[in-house]
Amino acid sequence: MTQDTKNDLMTKVVSLCKRRGFIFQSSEIYGGLRSCYDYGPLGVELKRNISNEWWRSMVYEREDIVGIDASIMMHPKVWQTSGHLSGFSDPLVDCLNCRERFRADKAPQHKPGTEMTFHKGGKSSGEKLRAPVSDRGYVCPVCACPSLSAERQFNLMFRTSLGPVDPTGEMLGAIEPNMTAEQKRATVDEIVAKTAVYLRPETAQAMFVQFLNVQQSMSMKVPFGIAQMGKSFRNEIVVEHFIFRSCEFEQMEMEFFCEPGTQAEWMKYWCGERMAWYKRFANSGENFRLRPHSEDELAHYSDACFDVEYMYPWGWGELEGIASRTDYDLSKHAEATGVKLSYFDQNKPDPTSGKMGWRYTPYVIEPAAGLTRSVLCFLLDAYQEEKGVDHEGNEKTRVLLKLHPKLAPYKAAILPLVKKDGLPEKAREIVKLLRRAGLNVSYDEQQSIGKRYARHDEIGTPYCITVDMQSLDDNSVTIRDRDTATQQRIKIEQALSIIQDRINSDKPNC
Ligand code: GAP
Repeated sequence: MTQDTKNDLMTKVVSLCKRRGFIFQSSEIYGGLRSCYDYGPLGVELKRNISNEWWRSMVYEREDIVGIDASIMMHPKVWQTSGHLSGFSDPLVDCLNCRERFRADKAPQHKPGTEMTFHKGGKSSGEKLRAPVSDRGYVCPVCACPSLSAERQFNLMFRTSLGPVDPTGEMLGAIEPNMTAEQKRATVDEIVAKTAVYLRPETAQAMFVQFLNVQQSMSMKVPFGIAQMGKSFRNEIVVEHFIFRSCEFEQMEMEFFCEPGTQAEWMKYWCGERMAWYKRFANSGENFRLRPHSEDELAHYSDACFDVEYMYPWGWGELEGIASRTDYDLSKHAEATGVKLSYFDQNKPDPTSGKMGWRYTPYVIEPAAGLTRSVLCFLLDAYQEEKGVDHEGNEKTRVLLKLHPKLAPYKAAILPLVKKDGLPEKAREIVKLLRRAGLNVSYDEQQSIGKRYARHDEIGTPYCITVDMQSLDDNSVTIRDRDTATQQRIKIEQALSIIQDRINSDKPNC
């Protein structure tokens, strides 16, 4: 694929999302809100189907993993202990020429001393200026100017205050005119801290904090895991590529607690499981890869990390991180609270004393996936165009979303050939039958049959079932396959098993 075709793919997918009710810009009629998106009637189904499949594979199909659904706001000390309050920040810089605010670590790199040409004020009509790149070795990503403000750390957590008291009033009362700027800042910070809470920037911490409650209430034996999915919030400086990086997004994370010393083998296991999960639903398995982190990419507490990456139209990028986090999180929370977050295995000898019974702090493997990022990835993977000719010999392009039937919003569309002569009634009987079996199906009588087929190809409906006059005589219908566009005449009672067999087929898509 050329770069133009890849850019084109992104544009086409974004446009399809809006046109067909998958994803809309939030508050669009008010001009939208930066990086906020609403999932429409089909998007919510796709997202839910992906998260259901994740939950099925992580929780329902296993005996060693249980789920939780924790609150989005947690005690603020959680974030102090986890390091998010002090360290979950990005280096923020302002361009002194065009005023763009950007992340230093993502800015274009140039050798110090390189002469850069840029337009005054960042406007193409502005006077042309030249300046050398400083020792920092990067320039403004928008206008290429090397004159930049100092870097300052910008915490990505959204802060709010809990309780009925507005801290602003107290601040106004506490600030005195003779205070220095530092004193004013310290006074404000102290008042804010009294009621400050944060929107969680990841779902993971609740699983560490609730380790003991879950282990004891469910009598879990190590190795075991706790899974959770839900919203996370990060005040990202750079939001990009539609829903790829946004400020409000959803994650699907699992903390797998294991015996110290077994983490490498569990890491290998979870890398295999997670890659197989993505490939099960993908058309192009080669667009998914595992990339090990280099030593200098690893967090100080981590002894290994792999990213599941997808080949997005702009290149390889992260879809999921699988980190070996040692006993860092449980140890830190235990240290901060005085609660022993450990596990006693009475059937194992203590490696130090040799005596039977070993109390240890479990090590953790954490597969952390993005749900909303997976929505984008599966949409990109599914989008296809097929060139062909219509019945009059004109060239036409068939757009289809080749979504795995398990992920497709509708499993089938039931189409009466015409809106009269008893066909709608017959079609609605089939709709009822399939819905009663738990399938989300669409009844669609709008426009010509050709247009309806095209619409359902574009939204990924695996089957179209057409009801015609013959259906009234012999209870037969035609069933059209989205991927091959071939049609077959079947008895109505066969429809359910045909659809269910396809949905439940274990055959990987690639
Ligand atoms: N608990 C570990 C953790 O949160 P992460 O790599 O920061 O790790 C995990 O996040 C996944 O969450 C990423 O691989 C990505 O899929 C998703 N994610 C992270 N930040 C995101 C954002 N701003 N927008 C959309 N998805 C995001």
